[in-house]
Amino acid sequence: MARILITSALPYINGVKHLGNLAGSMLPADVYARFQRARGHEVLYICATDEHGTPAELAAAAAGQDVMTYCEEQHRLQHDIGRGFGLSWDWFGRSSSPQNARLTQHFAEVLEDNGYIEERTDKLVYSIDDKRFLPDRYIQGICPVCGFPDARGDQCDNCGSLLDPIDLKEPYSVISGSRNLEVRDSRNLYLVQTKLQDAIRKWVDAKPEFSSLARSIAYKHLDEGLIDRGITRDLSWGVPVIRGGQPRTGFEDKVFYVWFDAPIEYIGATEEWADATGGDWARWWREDQGAKDVRYVEFMGKDNVAFHTVSFPATILGSDEPWKSVDNLKAFNWLNWYGDKFSTSKGRGVFMDQALELLPSDYWRWYLTANSPEHSDTAFTWEQFQGAANKDLADVLGNFVNRILKFAEARFEGKIPAGGEPGPLEDKLFAQVSEKLADLTAQFEAIEIRKTAQALRALWVVGNEYLQEAAPWTAIKTDPDRAAVIVRKAINLVALYARVSAPIIPHAAEVIAQAVGEPYPPTWPSPDAKVELSRLEAGRAFSVPDVLFRKIEDDQVAAWTERFAGKS
Ligand code: MF3
Ligand code: ZN
Repeated sequence: MARILITSALPYINGVKHLGNLAGSMLPADVYARFQRARGHEVLYICATDEHGTPAELAAAAAGQDVMTYCEEQHRLQHDIGRGFGLSWDWFGRSSSPQNARLTQHFAEVLEDNGYIEERTDKLVYSIDDKRFLPDRYIQGICPVCGFPDARGDQCDNCGSLLDPIDLKEPYSVISGSRNLEVRDSRNLYLVQTKLQDAIRKWVDAKPEFSSLARSIAYKHLDEGLIDRGITRDLSWGVPVIRGGQPRTGFEDKVFYVWFDAPIEYIGATEEWADATGGDWARWWREDQGAKDVRYVEFMGKDNVAFHTVSFPATILGSDEPWKSVDNLKAFNWLNWYGDKFSTSKGRGVFMDQALELLPSDYWRWYLTANSPEHSDTAFTWEQFQGAANKDLADVLGNFVNRILKFAEARFEGKIPAGGEPGPLEDKLFAQVSEKLADLTAQFEAIEIRKTAQALRALWVVGNEYLQEAAPWTAIKTDPDRAAVIVRKAINLVALYARVSAPIIPHAAEVIAQAVGEPYPPTWPSPDAKVELSRLEAGRAFSVPDVLFRKIEDDQVAAWTERFAGKS
């Protein structure tokens, strides 16, 4: 038995996430966690809301709430929706927790002691009316290149030019609209990443398991050369800059930068979990306290990779303390909405809360796994979604389960029948199931998300083909013993499907397991199909579940297409 630590990128606090966020971090992490638990490994799956920074402050202000209340509500909402999708987090923490504040301050302290933090002076735009420094994105004005009136301080959305806020003409504050701005000096702490460059490269070199996407992003940044990074900001919402129990002089009105404290929350959330459950967090994170034999796997979208292959490693390596670092980093591309981005403001695409109103979570879990944006950007389309639901879930899996259980109930009084001996068709079945099961297990282990779904579907198809060929409804007329063998094997297949489908479609798997009297959550089957398809013995009672997956109708697709297309 191994110990496996799993984290998915921490969703930012402001607003419900869309299906692309789910598909590119939380869902594949959950599928992997469920699989490894079924394998009998000790798994800890950690996630949290990423709560600090200006966007949270502004969203709270827009909602007319203080930022703590806002974050509390949004955290609860994201938690409940995640649970609605069956996300089996062992802990869903908050980066605003006291545990994370202490850890963040600790890291800053040791980084400084080791010579990796320096104070520097920045020239920043200050809004006199807002009484605050403005981050680049909260300053707008006329683009000096193309004249676009609402260019952002960091970039012009019209001509794409990268800008410095100081170059904007007639700049104003996005927060208040005020033009009463000036440039002021601000002292900030810098993490001197240039000194850690070689250490980080060696660290990446020693991570052969990273996906090619993750490696290429890491090396791109290393090849371009790292820059020192400001890790404090002039804000009130965040982790206070405290050292040795005392506020740092000159930093009383500053906090750590959100990207400095957010990844530390992977550890912070584990401490939250330990405090709440009596668990031992150091066993997962400190190599001097047992974490040496932990295998740590991270899941995230490609926009997060640089922060996890360069910035966070800089924190960990620069601390010179024995922290556990990631072994395998699984990165994902974008899930788009018909080739365009999801957009809250334009109402384009389905967000997680809406998805649960339309259909049970297994439909989404199946589609987003089978069409995972794993090796390239992928576009959601309703037609594909309908096909995946109706063909794979309803026709292949659902139909198999309902058809055989109904037939068996009608002919064998709700008990698995005795009699007969397996013949050549069953030998063929055992061989095929063994082969497909081995493939499925290998794909899960390799975290090949799409191939996992394909392999699972292939296993479902084997059952359908077996029933088609063996035709118990014909056999029963002339040879009841033969029909009994087929029904017995087919119900064993039903039980096997519950076990192997559970990581991807846990709710349906539970219904199926219950129908055939099997435990849930299940354990993972051995590779020997002959053994696995003989577990449920004659005499066991079963029931017929309701239709597992209702088909999605064309008129539903038409209505949803319109509803979620987004106004342009
Ligand atoms: N909140 C970030 C995003 O949505 C991800 C943070 S991952 C963390 O892109 F590890 F840094 F927390
Ligand atoms: Zn421009």
